[in-house]
Amino acid sequence: MSITRHEELIGMKKVSEAVACTLKEMRNYAKPGMTTKQLDNYGAKILSDFGAKSAPYLTYGFPGWTCISVNNEFCHGIPSDKRTLQEGDLINIDVSAELNGFWSDNGGSFVLGEDINQHQKLINASKEILHKAIHSIKGGIRISDIGFLIETEAKKRGYKVIKNLTGHGIGRSLHEEPENIANFKDRFNRARFRKNAVVAIETFITTTSTYAETLKDGWTMVGNKGGFMAQHEHTIVVTDGKPIVLTEMNEIWN
Ligand code: CO
Ligand code: CO
Repeated sequence: MSITRHEELIGMKKVSEAVACTLKEMRNYAKPGMTTKQLDNYGAKILSDFGAKSAPYLTYGFPGWTCISVNNEFCHGIPSDKRTLQEGDLINIDVSAELNGFWSDNGGSFVLGEDINQHQKLINASKEILHKAIHSIKGGIRISDIGFLIETEAKKRGYKVIKNLTGHGIGRSLHEEPENIANFKDRFNRARFRKNAVVAIETFITTTSTYAETLKDGWTMVGNKGGFMAQHEHTIVVTDGKPIVLTEMNEIWN
């Protein structure tokens, strides 16, 4: 959406606070021995207390409130009472929701407890690249130039990017125009970021794979060549200068 009235900015701030707070609290709550279903139930309670509803459930009928993906799972992992978290797991939580007709999206990867499997370097790369990308966005910048930046920064650190997952416009629904904010230079995408546009910017930084494929459960995505992926996502408002990071309080950059 494009923000044209003050009330729209207020609406976007409220739903963004709900998803950011939920993501932060879920990350702090996650402990070894807990199932991903327990973690999702915890997030569901926080979203409900804000009066917010799960965006993937509303939009796609996703079987959970939030997406929780562990280790080789890249994204859209289904919360399950059969999946128990362990020390050193690479966990991705993605929280998106609707509140009073406004929609916001954010996510982040982290290591549970001690980094016994050496995932932190990949996570730090993803965080840094998201920061650099977001702070390079303003009205008039080509979307493909941000994709180029993300891929270049990933390569510099010895990583790859996923080609078939992208950031997206957001605001009045979960996915809006511009629909494909890729992590690589998409030469067919001539579109530019527009001032006042609300967009979800997300990284998909990987060790090995360049495509994400859906498992038989119909939701969970894994890499075409295996390995691991780190994702970090903020919903922002594009301006003439520094963007407004609506989901800043998720503290994924801290
Ligand atoms: Co998301
Ligand atoms: Co998103």
